[in-house]
Amino acid sequence: MAQIIGSVTTSHVPAIGRAIAKNLQGDPYWKPFFDGFPPVHRWLAEKKPDVIVAFYNDHGLNFFLDKMPTFAVGAAAEYRNADEGWGIPELPPVKGEQKLAWHIIDKVIERDFDLVTCQEMVIDHALSLPLALLWPDQKWPVRIVPVCINTVQFPLPSAKRCYALGEAVGDAIRSWQGNERVLIMGTGGLSHQLDGERAGFINKDFDLKFMESLVADPRWATQYSIHELVEKTGTQGVELVMWLAARGALGNGPAKRVHQNYHIPISNTASGLMVLEPAAG
Ligand SMILES: [Fe+2]
Repeated sequence: MAQIIGSVTTSHVPAIGRAIAKNLQGDPYWKPFFDGFPPVHRWLAEKKPDVIVAFYNDHGLNFFLDKMPTFAVGAAAEYRNADEGWGIPELPPVKGEQKLAWHIIDKVIERDFDLVTCQEMVIDHALSLPLALLWPDQKWPVRIVPVCINTVQFPLPSAKRCYALGEAVGDAIRSWQGNERVLIMGTGGLSHQLDGERAGFINKDFDLKFMESLVADPRWATQYSIHELVEKTGTQGVELVMWLAARGALGNGPAKRVHQNYHIPISNTASGLMVLEPAAG
């Protein structure tokens, strides 16, 4: 049976790509952010995942405002990182894990989630940059299953629904007959707002409380509506639903905290990083 080894949740910001391209990891502005990752590298070297199931949101590269699925799962053979227009070098393509993707699609649709299935998909910074943070040599040792959640165009799915999606995906993985070691990834957030009157808004207290809740009280943030979460975390901070979906996939019991880092700001985003293992794992 496939095994979920744990989850890595992290922020995604286009400027990280520029910092990687220019080798600014040791620069005083970037160091507190990049210093969060060596413990994750050591954990990955020990755990050796074969597959990543990644919850993230597309930013208009693969889905644009004319066609915006609430939930979409990739079942492609390969995922290319396409130019987003930010002057960031494209990262190497990553192989898809198609068999597990179709198993997840079958099982999650059985649980009444109406997924869009994508046999062709390009990936943006929200998936490619976290991969580059986990494997700085950019030689990906994993195949991926991307799971996109719309946090770009309202109406957005509720935090509660995103957590439930994660639970269904986790159950699907645990019922897969293969022997893959699966890492769950969730990318987005934490608090930030890029536009409007509150541009630059960050809520450190809420972010830290949210990260803490994921250890032993993972449904805590599902008490809030999407509009309340926008109020508390900013228009783009609502991407934290990816962390909830990732946590849902680990199961409802307490999780073991392996590592965490929190740093503000990167660009104008509160950056969080967290590694959890299922408590029984
Ligand atoms: Fe984003």
